[in-house]
Amino acid sequence: MAEEKKYKAVTYEKGEEAKTAVLMEETRVFEPPKELVEQSNVWQWMQKKGFTDEREMRKWTVDHLEEFWGEMANEYADWDVPFKTVLDWQPPYAKWFPDGKISMTYNCLDRHVKTWRRNKVAYIAVGEPVDDVRLFTFWDLYREVNKLANGLKSLGVEKGDRVSIYLPMIPELSIAMMACAKIGAVHSVVFSGFSAKAYGDRVKDGESVVSITCDGFWRRGKTVPLKAQADEGIADAPSVRNQIIYRRTGQDIPWNEGKDIWWHDLIKDQSRECESLPMDPEDRLYILYTSGTTGKPKGIEHAVGGYCVGPPQTLSWVFDLKEDDVWWCAADVGWVTGHSYIVYAPLQLGMTGIMYEGSPDFPDMGRWWKIIEDYGVTVLYTSPTAIRMHMRAGEEWAEKYNLSSLRLLGTVGEPINPEAWIWYRKNIGADKLQIMDTWWQTETGTFAISPLPITPLKPGSATLPLPGFGVEVLDEKGEPVPLGGGGNIVQTKPWPAMLRAFWKDPERYMSTYWEYYWDTHPGYYLAGDKARKDKDGYFWVQGRIDDVLNVAGHRIGNSEVESACVSYPEVAEAACIGKPDEVKGEVIIAFCALKAGVEETEDLKKAIRTHVGEDLGKIAMPSEIHFVADVPKTRSGKIMRRIIKSKAMGKDVGETSTLSNPEAVDAIPTIV
Ligand code: WTA
Repeated sequence: MAEEKKYKAVTYEKGEEAKTAVLMEETRVFEPPKELVEQSNVWQWMQKKGFTDEREMRKWTVDHLEEFWGEMANEYADWDVPFKTVLDWQPPYAKWFPDGKISMTYNCLDRHVKTWRRNKVAYIAVGEPVDDVRLFTFWDLYREVNKLANGLKSLGVEKGDRVSIYLPMIPELSIAMMACAKIGAVHSVVFSGFSAKAYGDRVKDGESVVSITCDGFWRRGKTVPLKAQADEGIADAPSVRNQIIYRRTGQDIPWNEGKDIWWHDLIKDQSRECESLPMDPEDRLYILYTSGTTGKPKGIEHAVGGYCVGPPQTLSWVFDLKEDDVWWCAADVGWVTGHSYIVYAPLQLGMTGIMYEGSPDFPDMGRWWKIIEDYGVTVLYTSPTAIRMHMRAGEEWAEKYNLSSLRLLGTVGEPINPEAWIWYRKNIGADKLQIMDTWWQTETGTFAISPLPITPLKPGSATLPLPGFGVEVLDEKGEPVPLGGGGNIVQTKPWPAMLRAFWKDPERYMSTYWEYYWDTHPGYYLAGDKARKDKDGYFWVQGRIDDVLNVAGHRIGNSEVESACVSYPEVAEAACIGKPDEVKGEVIIAFCALKAGVEETEDLKKAIRTHVGEDLGKIAMPSEIHFVADVPKTRSGKIMRRIIKSKAMGKDVGETSTLSNPEAVDAIPTIV
């Protein structure tokens, strides 16, 4: 294993507008240990099929798309009516398994309670207050879901109706989602950290008939009054007939007679049995609004059938879950990561999972590591931002706990800088665990580019398209880029858990994802991300198309510059934006948050600039560096470059309620 790291500067050819700058060359490779490979789910499948080579296997699945997904659909889901057709593809509309019938909730719960798994723990629900722990078996979930589903029916909720859910990270959120799925209602979950207005906008857009919330929840030792916020949001939402309130904290709440009903009153006399309605595979399972990084939120629609297949299959293959694993996806159910990999996929696989309500720093930065020690977590999945936050706090927190139960790690949400990757492996993974860097989106529903337990890893690369995923990097003309080149991430084939539509906006669905390459390649999905492929064909995601800098005609991923800044020892976090420049088109401005106790000096600014210049080449050197206390981020950890840029350029920053730290925006200096 080569332990040395090297960055390579490249030369640019004039006029090659579309060429993405290939700046970062990471040469370390981490081979998977033989023991991991040989026991892995994917390896077992390969043995059965006679594959010995990973690349060959990945290719075969794409060349035999329908055969592959047809087999996976029968392996990972139980069908009420078996399908005969795997795929009906009329670009840009796909129907997966269209002539079958299936129920998501049946697959998550009903089928398990018929087996020995009925008393297996499904959720270890760790509340933020220390010692507030609740265990839910599959049977518990089954009964609670049935009672709530019957309760929803008693309120007149019917198949196809939308139900908005505004709940924190408690199992009742998962229960509410599965209760909707059980009767064919379409859930629309809104992250509990969003503002009243953000909730209201989404309820109104979806015309939900019921709102489900709770009195409040815990965050950093204090209670957040969620019910009052929900009321404010839906005050002018005429479609909402009823609001169901779960009692979590016991705090006082405002009450709307005739509309509000306590969760415990609603389910009190309901039967513990409720039929899981067999659905057409194209019936909608949920709407999820994207995080709002680009103006008005879009309601992404997901369909039941394909979604009963993609999430469990990808979870089983990538994170290799076994019956005795303890899975912890430390995201929030309010995002797609939680929908797919806290709620549906792990329950479908019959897994035991952690659900943690609170903040990673409560009561101190050791909380996550304590949870891992207390419950013997075996697989941990989190975001680069969370890793950098732990990095900033110092490895001494993790050192206090026994993390030896862990056997695999993962990340999602943004490109991970090699610095954080190595820290994660070394300090959380005992210097030996493989890290699954999964690239995907709300729209894809599941991982699409990701390593498998059998894949050699390069820190910072999401490696290769998953089996059954046709993913390519194309130039502006629609040609695949040569190895070493960069361009747009495109999915060339449909996949089961793909988005089906934008709620009430078919035109935007077409223009956002399909129009770009329609003339040459109808049916190619434009992901909106840039990536480059290295000489081994590994994908290096550089960030959103709209986040790519253009300095003197050369495109440079913001994340690459940020990564280089963060690799300077004194820098904890960085955000880079492009500032319009008469000569170069754009110059790079970096906002850097320093590690605790580091003094902000002009010399340090110079040193960081020089360091970035050395790491990435002069072209990527920020022309200015500004020190800030914190970098504005969304609740899911994405650096909000659009907002940072507006503030720095002295423009209106717009809505900031989607941020986890709106005060950080105020601290961004105006630099024009
Ligand atoms: C980014 C989250 C690099 C990407 C599941 C994508 C990533 C957007 C990665 C989707 C990764 C996600 N490496 N970038 N491993 N994973 N992204 O919809 O820009 O909240 O388009 O879904 O996050 O964000 P979303």
